[in-house]
Amino acid sequence: MPRTLIRQGRIVTAVDDYVGDLLLDDGRIVAIGEKLDVGGDALEIDARGLLVLPGGVDCHTHMENTFGESTTCDTFESGTRSAAFGGTTTIVDFAFQRRDTGVLEAIRSAQERAGSKASIDYGFHLITTHVDDSTLADMRHAIRHEGVTSFKMFMAYPGTVMVDDAAIFRAMRLVGQHGGMVCLHAENGGVIDLLIREALEQGHTAPRFHALTRPSLMEGEATHRGIKLAELAQSPVYIVHLSAREALAQVIEARNAGIPVFAETCPHYLFFDESVYDSEDWELARYVMSPPLRSKEAQHALWRALKTDQLQVVSTDHCPFCMKEGHLGRVRQKPHGRHDFSKIPNGVPGVETRTTVIYDGGVRQNRLSMNRFVELVSTAPAKLFGLFPRKGTVAVGSDADVVLFDPDEKHVISAKTQHSDCDYTLFEGKEVCGRVKKVFSRGELIVDGERWLGKPGRGRFVKRGEVGGF
Ligand code: URP
Ligand code: ZN
Ligand code: ZN
Repeated sequence: MPRTLIRQGRIVTAVDDYVGDLLLDDGRIVAIGEKLDVGGDALEIDARGLLVLPGGVDCHTHMENTFGESTTCDTFESGTRSAAFGGTTTIVDFAFQRRDTGVLEAIRSAQERAGSKASIDYGFHLITTHVDDSTLADMRHAIRHEGVTSFKMFMAYPGTVMVDDAAIFRAMRLVGQHGGMVCLHAENGGVIDLLIREALEQGHTAPRFHALTRPSLMEGEATHRGIKLAELAQSPVYIVHLSAREALAQVIEARNAGIPVFAETCPHYLFFDESVYDSEDWELARYVMSPPLRSKEAQHALWRALKTDQLQVVSTDHCPFCMKEGHLGRVRQKPHGRHDFSKIPNGVPGVETRTTVIYDGGVRQNRLSMNRFVELVSTAPAKLFGLFPRKGTVAVGSDADVVLFDPDEKHVISAKTQHSDCDYTLFEGKEVCGRVKKVFSRGELIVDGERWLGKPGRGRFVKRGEVGGF
């Protein structure tokens, strides 16, 4: 691979903002200077007028993940290609411990699925669905030796993935002692399940009832409970896909008390609100994700919390299911729940739009500073999940994961021009300002304007270090 010299771009990290040159060699950033003189063999790229950003780190994606009867429509191949076009160079996806699968087997199986397909670097959280002595021993092994240092546990979906409070507490007590972290899907599964059954008994089958049966109070309740379990276990905790004001209040209270609680929200909660559910239309299945969209007030509160570090990360929870059955051969997608909202696979796409919509809606709308934008989409997730400083910044010695971004170019988002296998985007038709122009992954140019230069299988599994490094 040739050395690459990126000339005179505006280099922005979570703390810096200056114009300079960047030399990439052998997969890493090897020099940064005002005007580097590196001899003639380097490939020169003129970055005047462009932002030079650390590659995005999306710590919540679901590529070819199976939930119940449905599998997300993006494979590691299509999903990582889509991520790269969106300026993301590292994802943390999920290995899945099932009833018949042990922890280490789950990690191997996820590595095998991703290995020949991923075109950007990736790590895994482990979805932990039961906790016994052998699970705990394997979790310790995973943290120490496998580079899998975070564990997602569900307080929702009883009968499938939900775990009880004692299991969460046991896992937290163990991982907290060994530099790991539990990530919680915080919704009260028992109550929600009852509300779903009652709605169906009354003949309510439309997608909007997905939202009506998942009240924000029950997200707040579970968030409170999860934080208390973590406090007792003396362990950090990370709340995934936080959407409700009630949940945010719990995170703020705990952080103010010095408890190591971290949380992410996702673009769909920042740009859409519950008013979309105001119809019986089947098309609303595209907005079926958990937790569901919340009030306009909640949305404003989330933006404020991102600014003030009450929330630390914007991830995507990219969990795509097609709106059309059979699209690219995918089956049991959103129409699986055509006559019963509880069977609509939960989740929405977003991995390709995150950088642009957060730049456009955050920086350009004066909700976030440029540095904070970089921190939210790259540096903070890298730090929290044991990837920093290899990922998440532009610094000598870091991996040469670099994005050249035009802050002024306008374009209209459309599923037709995206690179995911999903047949829709929530942002269809939205005009945004800011565009990913070039993406380097470990020094290799993989996105060049509209051209895809990445190769399936070039992405590497990243062994992550201790988590919660703030
Ligand atoms: O609806 C969602 N969020 N689906 C993805 C799985 C999860 O809970 O993160
Ligand atoms: Zn979840
Ligand atoms: Zn998720």
